[in-house]
Amino acid sequence: MSDLNKIAIQILSNGKGILAADESTATMTKRLESVNIDSNEHNRLIFRQTLFTSLSMKECIGGVILYDETIRQRSTNGKTIPEIINSNGSLTGIKVDTGAKALAGSKDEKITEGLDGLRERLNDYYKLGARFTKWRGVYSITNKYPSNLSKSANAHALARYAALVQEAGMVPIIEPEVLMDGNHSAKDCLKKTSEVLKKCYEELELNNVDLKGTILKPNMILPGTNSDEKLSDKEVAEMTLECLKNNVPSSVPGIAFLSGGQTEIEATANLNQINIKNDTDFIMTYSYGRALQQSALKYWSKDINNIVGTQEIFDHRAKMCTLAAQGKWSESLENS
Ligand code: 13P
Repeated sequence: MSDLNKIAIQILSNGKGILAADESTATMTKRLESVNIDSNEHNRLIFRQTLFTSLSMKECIGGVILYDETIRQRSTNGKTIPEIINSNGSLTGIKVDTGAKALAGSKDEKITEGLDGLRERLNDYYKLGARFTKWRGVYSITNKYPSNLSKSANAHALARYAALVQEAGMVPIIEPEVLMDGNHSAKDCLKKTSEVLKKCYEELELNNVDLKGTILKPNMILPGTNSDEKLSDKEVAEMTLECLKNNVPSSVPGIAFLSGGQTEIEATANLNQINIKNDTDFIMTYSYGRALQQSALKYWSKDINNIVGTQEIFDHRAKMCTLAAQGKWSESLENS
């Protein structure tokens, strides 16, 4: 087993998943302002350190993805944030892309930037304690999108990123996110996500990326948020598994889904069914941002000094997701 494969397995095994706490300052500001909390460096630190010192970190969270600001912060007890994460047996990850910008040649679509100077930034993040990284490509569904240009340009960037990350001794999370926005059907989502994944793996192989030392972070197969179509968790699981089986090489050790705007319960129930029906060798777990943090953030915003109460809410969510990552979740456990 290569070192990178070991890291990937360590992050994802035994029902553990990833806490995606890598919101950029602009996104975190939106999240905090939505619950009437001022977005300053201190408040961003306090909320995040509350999660990172929760009891469920040891049992449920195999890795935490940070944003540049957070990986350089010290908690209020003087330890660095990576030290706190590592002391729970979890690994530190870092978002290394610099965001999605208008794609020249197809300006309604996006291309993710951040390759310039990436080799040097990666070495810096490794020294700060990071052992895995994230890069997110983003695709919209309409009748003409994602275009071949967007699929090709984003796959190229993801693959060049992944090769540089492995060179620096870290595991790259490959995140091609096909967005839920729109009125498309689940069938459209299946077709377009399949095309996106196929292109990504073509480019990853061309760039000699060792797939055993990577983690895929895809969207689940869902109808668009403005579509009238309703799918059961079982149907979501079947379509998602079909997509992944047909487009992800079997050497990829694990798949950690993004939540993408699903509610906490939807993201948990769908992941649970995916694991009940999983007849592949892929580990199937979570790498959730909103679906792990939403309720905790709401609760915390009412009294930012109520650390224990906030941690209880987060611990419950993390526990439910970890049960779902083993196909052991149920509504009765959710409400108990
Ligand atoms: P969500 O689970 O909120 O979609 O966030 C995951 C993520 O990392 C998006 O890049």
